[in-house]
Formats: sequence, C-alpha cells, structure tokens
Amino acid sequence: MAVFTRPAFLGLAVVILSVLAGAANAQLSPNFYSTSCPKLAGIVRSGMASAVQTEKRMAASIVRLFFHDCFVNGCDGSILLDDTSTFTGEKNAGPNANSARGYEVIDAIKTQVEASCKATVSCADILALAARDGVNLVGGPTWNVPLGRKDSRTASQSAANSNLPGPGSSLATLISMFGNKNLSPQDMTALSGAHTIGRSQCQFFRNRIYTETNINASFATLRQGTCPRSGGDSNLAPFDVRTADGFDNAYYQNLVEQRGLLHSDQELFNGGSQDALVRQYSNTPSRFSADFATAMVKMGNLLPTSGTQEIRLNCRKPN
Ligand code: HEM
Ligand SMILES: *[C@@H]1O[C@H](CO)[C@@H](O)[C@H](O)[C@H]1NC(C)=O
Repeated sequence: MAVFTRPAFLGLAVVILSVLAGAANAQLSPNFYSTSCPKLAGIVRSGMASAVQTEKRMAASIVRLFFHDCFVNGCDGSILLDDTSTFTGEKNAGPNANSARGYEVIDAIKTQVEASCKATVSCADILALAARDGVNLVGGPTWNVPLGRKDSRTASQSAANSNLPGPGSSLATLISMFGNKNLSPQDMTALSGAHTIGRSQCQFFRNRIYTETNINASFATLRQGTCPRSGGDSNLAPFDVRTADGFDNAYYQNLVEQRGLLHSDQELFNGGSQDALVRQYSNTPSRFSADFATAMVKMGNLLPTSGTQEIRLNCRKPN
C-alpha cells in the first residue's frame, strides 16, 4: 500500500502549487531542446564568443535586447521583427530607435541554429541564451536558461513606448514599471546592474551631468568632456567608469560614489528604499551575481498572454 511520508506529501503539494501558480510558463524547461536540438547551447555560445571577440560591447547590446523583448508582451522575439505593411514594430519605438543594436548577431546565430535543427528553436529562446552567454563571456555569472518560448507574429510599437522605462525615471516609476512585470524592487535593482557594461549616448545623460547635484563633481567634469551642452547627442560614454566592459559589481560602487551615469541609475542610491541593497551589492559581489541570475530567469519567464506564436524561421519576419 502506498503511504505518503511527510516529505513526499510536501513535495507533491509543492508540485501542485507551482503548477497552479505558473500555468502560463509551466512549459519552459532548460532541457526543452535536449533531444530536438542537442547542439543548441554550443552553437549560441560560439556565436556570442565570436561577436564579443569582435566587439566587447556586443555582450551589453544583446543583454539589452533581451530586456527590451521581455518587457513588451513577454519574451517572444517581438523586438527582432522588422516593420511590415501591416504593423509598425518595436525597432523604431522611442527606447529602441538609433539605440538598440545587435540584431545581425542574432540573425547569424539563427542561421547556424537552422542549419543544425530546422524550424525547431525560437528566436526568443536564442536571444535568452545569447544574453546569458554575453554576460558570462565578459566576466559575469552563468545560469540555466528555461527554454520553450515561441515567437510572436506581430510587434507593438506603442507597447514598447509605454512599457520600457526612460533614463529620466524616478525610483517610484522604476519600481512601478518593474512591478507591472511582477518583478520586485530587488529584482529591479539587481537587473539594473546590467549597466556595469555597455555605453550610453550623451543625449540620455546630458541633463544629469550639467544640472544635477547628486553627482560626483570630478565624474561630471569627466563626462562633460565628451558630452557638450549642445551637439554631440550620440557621443558614447561607458556606464561603468571603473571596468567599462567587464561584468562585475562596480556599477554599485559607482552609485555609492554618486557616479551613476543616468538619472535613473543614481535614483537607486539617493536616500531611498534601495540604498541598503546597493551598498550590499557594492560590498558583496557574490550576492549581486546570484540575485542578477535569479532576476534574469524571472524576467525571462515573462510570456505573451495573447496572440499567436510560432517558431519563426527568420527572426526579422513572421513566417
Ligand atoms: C531600470 C531602468 C532602465 C533604464 C531607464 C535604462 C535605460 C538605458 C539607456 C537610456 C541606455 C542607453 C541607450 C543608448 O544610449 O542608446 C541603456 C543601455 C543599456 N541598458 Fe538599460 N535601462 C534600464 C534597465 C536595464 C536592464 C534591466 C537591463 C538588462 C538586464 C539593461 C541593460 C542595458 C545595457 C547592457 C545597455 C548598454 C547597451 C549597449 O551598449 O549597446 N538596462 N539603458
Ligand atoms: C568622487 O569620486 C572619487 C573617485 O575619483 C572618490 O574618491 C570620491 O569619494 C567621490 N566623491 C564622493 C562625494 O563620493
């Protein structure tokens, strides 16, 4: 006769509860392609390795693409779609136009994946893996990526404009925009640590370096050197003044010294609710790495709640 021991019963209860709570993404699993595309992880890893070898910043650009994909109707590859005659896509939305980059890297990886496993792996999953590998290739943590996403057949410029936070956002706005995606203030603060790599254009931090008072004076002067009061809108500066292309906790050390680049960055350490966590991350890199990985998985679990999905053959257009 089968008897439930207490641990077995608890285990069963946990399984039932998680099925109920996670119905929308219950199908995601790190092993999703293990029989249908066993070489997938290696193909994505080597595609990212060669892209990052050519240009270190590409790690940052791909991580940002993943964030901008997931925040707009879930992680469904929608940001990768070019505009068509029937919809205006996300590439030309405010937060992405002349800013989001790395599309050709995803195209190149997709070509390799298709050659090995035809019509099997979604562009959304390729982007999730590529973001993980980008972080790891420039010195950051690694994690298992749950897989099994499908690609949207459409994209929404208006949803991209309204769901993605801007560089002038207040702490309250950041907490609420991440909260809208079921991400906690801690997730938001950890995910913002992606700004330990990559670049920003002058137009997004000009106001901060000329008018704000919660900024390190020598840092403001440094950034003013390549970001004039007028003109030079697209001049680039690294987010992380310490280790520009290395994924580490220096972003938080910068914030503690009032060396955040964007207004929204410094909002995380400006006398508010995230100060203590920023200090912890600045002192304990392992805590940041673990929380960042956890939050990336959580963000990656955002899935579309409507519309039709497919395995797109070309990441730029619906089948
Ligand atoms: C918290 C709210 C956030 C705001 C307001 C914000 C805003 C920005 C802005 C304005 C840029 C510069 C774009 C440009 O100059 O073209 C940028 C770049 C970047 N963002 Fe964020 N971001 C946020 C959160 C995130 C998150 C959650 C991630 C990833 C997990 C992320 C990853 C990046 C990366 C890696 C870059 C550099 C991209 C490159 O060099 O190509 N950001 N972000
Ligand atoms: C400004 O940055 C320097 C590093 O160059 C640092 O030593 C100093 O503590 C910072 N100032 C403040 C007020 O945090």
